[in-house]
Amino acid sequence: MSETKVAQTNSKKRQSERTLPATFYRSKDLYEESLDSIFARSWQLVGRFNEGESFNLGLKPGMMESVTLLPGSLNEPLLLTRTQSVIALVDQNKQKNSKSKPDGNLQPEPQFNLTCLSNVCTHRGALLLETGKEEAIPPQGLRCRYHGRRFNCDGTFQSAPGFENVDNFPEEADHLKKIEIHNWGPFTFASLNPACSFEEFIEPMRERLAFLDLDKLVYKPELSCEYDIEAHWALYVDNYLEGLHIPFVHPSLSAVLDLKNYRTELFAMGNLQLGAANSKADTFDLPPQCPDFGQAMGAYYYYLFPNMMFNFYPWGLSLNIVAPTSHKTTKVYYRTFVLDPSRMQSYSPSDIKQTEMEDEDVVELVQKGIQSRVYKSGRYAPVWEQGVRQFHGLIAKFMDKNLALF
Ligand code: FES
Ligand SMILES: [Fe+2]
Repeated sequence: MSETKVAQTNSKKRQSERTLPATFYRSKDLYEESLDSIFARSWQLVGRFNEGESFNLGLKPGMMESVTLLPGSLNEPLLLTRTQSVIALVDQNKQKNSKSKPDGNLQPEPQFNLTCLSNVCTHRGALLLETGKEEAIPPQGLRCRYHGRRFNCDGTFQSAPGFENVDNFPEEADHLKKIEIHNWGPFTFASLNPACSFEEFIEPMRERLAFLDLDKLVYKPELSCEYDIEAHWALYVDNYLEGLHIPFVHPSLSAVLDLKNYRTELFAMGNLQLGAANSKADTFDLPPQCPDFGQAMGAYYYYLFPNMMFNFYPWGLSLNIVAPTSHKTTKVYYRTFVLDPSRMQSYSPSDIKQTEMEDEDVVELVQKGIQSRVYKSGRYAPVWEQGVRQFHGLIAKFMDKNLALF
């Protein structure tokens, strides 16, 4: 078969594909299964999510903090410790002026290591530090208050009263499990059992947005909020991933978007919806090396599988974390970070709230619709619903199932 024929056949095949079956969104069993097969294998933001609390980690050296990974579903108790364990030799001259040449004047500089551990004692499973607490790391290391087992700050086993002369002790499982973490700007991500490397997960977004100084993002608790939604988490994500509904559901948003130039770019673990702006919207000042240089970019809508949205605007970032709370309820955390206060005139909390309410409304409408015994699944609009199609493919891949059979 010629290359053109193969491409045409693939395109025909893609066009005949169907959306996830309604049973996927209804099934309590598939939801429970997805916690292990999708969420426990994904990268998730680490931090505190409770109302009014900042999840930005301002953990000081010598301190430890308990956090919950993906509250409401995974609920995994983790312990973060920040220690001063490495002394690096840093060129002082180079530090002061990044353009100057190193002069060989190397000075010791303390480095603070952030470590993420399981917060569950390896003896009988007590929490080492109660949920939401932040304390100084004791000089002798971590101590479980149930039977006094001790661990070093890196999680290695130290001692255990009552276990003297026990054979094969300690074993590997007696150390606290170390959880892989990585940083991007002010954000820390962790994964219990990563299905892909952090590089693969973050690189497309990191590279495209290299022109933004993310360390300058300032968290704004007063502009952040949560919404409880009566719908399956994946219905909320489905809705986010397509622009087809914008003119119908968000008339005022569509007035500032140039929907003719709407497009979605897919990468391994997510996608980017490009919000080309019309003349009424504020746009990014892009440097020549940026691939979008010369275009009026009003927003970058990044989706990272399975449940995170990083929406960048010229004024800053609106981060959405879609946290399942059951197979039919979801909590969406809206976290706002300002990057350039001088561009805040284009930030409108009432517009954002209106868009959110409109989305919530249609997502709950779908939640009701998919209870039907008549509706099974639908088809994808080729240009507009590429992101939804990719999302469904990733769900099927992670769950290792042909979901069409459900
Ligand atoms: S549960 Fe921690 S020492 Fe027993
Ligand atoms: Fe929407």
